Amino acid sequence: MTQEELFKKLIAHCKEYGFIFPSSEIYDGLGAVYDYGQNGVELKNNIKRYWWDSMVKLHENIVGIDAAIFMHPRTWEASGHVAAFNDPLIDNKDSKKRYRADVLIEDYLAKLDEKIEKEVEKARKRFGEAFDEEQYRATSPRVKEISEKRDAVHARFAEALNNNDLAELKQIILDCEVVCPISGTRNWTDVRQFNLMFSTQMGSTAEGANTIYLRPETAQGIFVNYLNVQKTGRMKLPFGIAQIGKAFRNEIVARQFIFRMREFEQMEMQFFVQPGTEMQWWNEWKNTRMAWHRALGFGDENYRFHDHDKLAHYANAATDIEYNFPFGFKDVEGIHSRTDFDLGRHQEYSGKKIQYFDPERGENYVPYVVETSIGVDRMFLQIMSAAYCEEKLENGEERVVLRIPACLAPTKVAVMPLVKKDGLPEKAREIIDSLKFDFNVAYDEKDSIGKRYRRQDAVGTPFCVTVDHQTLEDNTVTVRHRDSMQQERIAIADLYAMVERETSFRELYKKLK
Ligand code: GAP
Repeated sequence: MTQEELFKKLIAHCKEYGFIFPSSEIYDGLGAVYDYGQNGVELKNNIKRYWWDSMVKLHENIVGIDAAIFMHPRTWEASGHVAAFNDPLIDNKDSKKRYRADVLIEDYLAKLDEKIEKEVEKARKRFGEAFDEEQYRATSPRVKEISEKRDAVHARFAEALNNNDLAELKQIILDCEVVCPISGTRNWTDVRQFNLMFSTQMGSTAEGANTIYLRPETAQGIFVNYLNVQKTGRMKLPFGIAQIGKAFRNEIVARQFIFRMREFEQMEMQFFVQPGTEMQWWNEWKNTRMAWHRALGFGDENYRFHDHDKLAHYANAATDIEYNFPFGFKDVEGIHSRTDFDLGRHQEYSGKKIQYFDPERGENYVPYVVETSIGVDRMFLQIMSAAYCEEKLENGEERVVLRIPACLAPTKVAVMPLVKKDGLPEKAREIIDSLKFDFNVAYDEKDSIGKRYRRQDAVGTPFCVTVDHQTLEDNTVTVRHRDSMQQERIAIADLYAMVERETSFRELYKKLK
């Protein structure tokens, strides 16, 4: 199965099993807007809990807030979003399709990277055990040729982005002979800037109405509350403010399912530090956040850092944590050193003094900020991509299983009476009653036990508990484990402790620094 086919299956699975639906589907959906279904919302809530606890509960010096989506319009002038929150767009005149010029070039560069990797893999097969990868990469004429081409295009691209040189972006697309995937032609328009913020009106009459924006990032809600939190919480530098909430961007090209949406959710943390210490904290947060991802156990090789080619208007250093999605390595989280840009600008635009009195230095200053910013939906997609697994069983049957870490799984236990009579359903209900205040538990009595197991595998339930006639005699049940499919007989009295131990976030938290 190709990665593309796998991704299509994953999207279909998300819909079939109540994880994600197209928004307002009965009206044919709305571009790049999605709804989370009964299983999706549980997984999403668990992702948010993993993030919130690891930030707020496990750090004495990080507190949380929940700011409004609507903010005073001056906020977005101060933050630079009105002037500079743009994407460069380009249209193909034949297909009439619109693309992000930077994404077209990034995809072209990724193809050259793939070519290099293919050459290396071919050589690895050819030379077998004697293969010296480093030497091959340094000496193979073919690899050198592609690498040089890649580096040259990359250098031009980074310079064009940093200089906002739209004509040069178009020229790179032409020089690299990038074609439209729909029409197959190189008939491109010029590159133009496109502001990504959605606007609406606040006020009852059109004349008195103010144009306000739907926030394109949650971070500004934190910056405008910096003084409130610092003062009321008597916070000392360094300290952080965390927030989870919706953000909105009028993405030009909304592709790849929930990877790029127009309404999405962010989990952001702004860490306020002494000026001059920001690089040390940036490095610290890079490592902390990478450890958070890797603790889920999806394979360290599937994550990498990717430094930004173009720094945002507020940043002096920025990197992404990328995950190896079925469509390649793509960013899930950004770690940005935002300097004193945001607080400084809010100070200037609001006329309010936004400073910190540092008792050690005996001076006032505007703190510097290191931000960690991750999309809940992208994290969701990362987990689903990593967890989705099609398996052939020993008996020739096939199963689809979601190997979601137990603490994140939407449902922890499914309780199943072997038959719908003889008092087994009643016994199953008793077990559910003993678990349901602390865990998400499902009841299923329909179809054969085998079919019921498959249904739970498909939504990632780690444990299935079967109640049979022996249960009535000795108060034991069969517990079937999702990943190994092993079964064991345990006393009902031990069930709560087993589920608690196996599905708690505790083990995950212990792995974090
Ligand atoms: N406050 C900084 C900021 O917003 P960003 O790199 O633009 O930085 C941070 O966004 C994260 O938000 C991304 O790494 C991604 O996970 C998520 N994100 C951004 N745009 C998104 C979109 N259109 N759809 C889904 N997630 C998005």
